[in-house]
Amino acid sequence: MASNAVGVLSFCFELLFVILQLPFSSVLPSSTTQGFSIQEATVYDLQLAFQKKQLSSKQVVEFYLKQIETQNSVLRGVLELNPDALAQAEKADKERKSKAPGSLSPLHGIPILVKDTIATKDRMNTTAGSFALLGSVVPRDAGVVTRLRKAGAIIIGKATLSEWSHYRSVAAPDGWSARGRHGKNPYTMDSPCGSSSGSAISVAANLVAVSLGTETDGSILCPSDSNSVVGIKPTVGLTSRAGVVPVSPRQDTVGPICRTVADAALLLQTIAGIDTNDKATIIASKYIPKGGYAQFLRKDGLRGKRLGVLRYFYAFGNDTFLHETFELHLKTLRERGAVLVDNLEIENIDEVYSGPSEGIAVAFEFKSSLNAYLKDLVASPVRSLADVIAFNNKHSKLEKVKEYGEDLMVNAQNIRGSGTLEEALSNLTRLSKDGFEKVMIGNKLDAVVVPCASFSSVLAIGGYPGVTVPAGYQNGRPFGICFGGLRGSEPNLIQIAYSFEQATMIRKPPPLPKL
Ligand SMILES: *[C@@H]1O[C@H](CO)[C@@H](O)[C@H](O)[C@H]1NC(C)=O
Ligand SMILES: *[C@@H]1O[C@H](CO)[C@@H](O)[C@H](O)[C@H]1NC(C)=O
Ligand SMILES: *[C@@H]1O[C@H](CO)[C@@H](O)[C@H](O)[C@H]1NC(C)=O
Repeated sequence: MASNAVGVLSFCFELLFVILQLPFSSVLPSSTTQGFSIQEATVYDLQLAFQKKQLSSKQVVEFYLKQIETQNSVLRGVLELNPDALAQAEKADKERKSKAPGSLSPLHGIPILVKDTIATKDRMNTTAGSFALLGSVVPRDAGVVTRLRKAGAIIIGKATLSEWSHYRSVAAPDGWSARGRHGKNPYTMDSPCGSSSGSAISVAANLVAVSLGTETDGSILCPSDSNSVVGIKPTVGLTSRAGVVPVSPRQDTVGPICRTVADAALLLQTIAGIDTNDKATIIASKYIPKGGYAQFLRKDGLRGKRLGVLRYFYAFGNDTFLHETFELHLKTLRERGAVLVDNLEIENIDEVYSGPSEGIAVAFEFKSSLNAYLKDLVASPVRSLADVIAFNNKHSKLEKVKEYGEDLMVNAQNIRGSGTLEEALSNLTRLSKDGFEKVMIGNKLDAVVVPCASFSSVLAIGGYPGVTVPAGYQNGRPFGICFGGLRGSEPNLIQIAYSFEQATMIRKPPPLPKL
């Protein structure tokens, strides 16, 4: 979970290239001609270069391995490398030669980094950043990894994160884990936000093409914002959580973190879908559009969309720069054809952020779901939350480096009373129904638009989706704009986000780190 600015502890469709080319034809960067540059290349750029035989997957993997070699000691976005990545790239290059052009997935031969909570049954470890899980053996690939491999993507490594998705302790800084140390925001060289910090750092700094993160409350949206990249936090259940170190099965979701909305949409359509190991995917599969998400990458995607403006989240005080920047963004949205419904309020917003219910529910859910995850491992040094706490107590004495305690884990371990859980859950249902849903439905909105930083809890407690897009820099520090909607509204959110991105094109790559 991301720590949020309000200060609350809550914290495939395989596309044929024919289809794929349509929405992109007008945005092709010039780097796709001779002398192809992998730096800043989109998935589409890479695929086009593969097709034209200007580039191989092996060259792409070699490029990113070199980037990681030179920059990761400072940025710490990557926790482990896949020793088999180059061999898999060579295999992808062979496959491309033997298959008809256009018959392969858009992710075929593309290197991807996945958060270290996402299980891979290969030579890599899956540890949530903790030494407690080092040497554990997962029973199978995570559901999303199975889909990535089937699409021919190359898992180049594991991304650093806030340890245990920031559910070890409140005091632990964003982007810190015992194994990964401190991940750094490449723009500011300080906090990358979390918990999917390494995923965002690494795509931002061109250490990899695309990445996956996970979110319980803010963990995709916040690091995407802070590192000036695009994050999609999908509707809960749209993407499988099977084989992902859990926090709350009611709120957890796996989603893309990429440099562009188009890359994120391609990645989303690759990983979305039913997985019998995660029952929520069966219910949510009704939301998946035929033909995938790339069809919604439309420059005119804002036309006619009704966007609610929640002024509660625009509290910039005397900061005229942020105030003016967001007013300008609202103007852009209007100019592109959106209907803005201004000054809307979520009636119970204070209870969403200050009430105890999310914290209580997640504490119960963390304990039971983590225990189930650990029990399911083939082998592991720890088999329960109690074991993890005992490991940490012992380990922090052995480690010479600073550790940050484990109050969240201890609180979850000690939490009691099923009546309390039921009450918290019924509170959360009520908060969503009388809050966000009421505003969305009552005003016939397609989405709400807010500055991203503190908005995540509204989406988190109802399992709603959100997309964040780079929205500016303040003294070099990136910030994003967030579009959120009701469950299953990804097609609308992608249209809106893509149209805004194409109208503004704000993202700039970070400066090279001083090595
Ligand atoms: C996984 O962890 C083991 C230590 O248990 C280490 O020897 C190995 O190098 C790690 N794998 C990778 C790919 O880094
Ligand atoms: C806003 O006001 C506070 C004091 O209330 C001051 O510390 C801060 O520098 C001001 N910020 C700007 C951007 O003027
Ligand atoms: C449920 O909400 C009420 C406020 O309406 C609050 O007093 C109570 O503490 C909440 N219970 C839990 C378990 O979150």
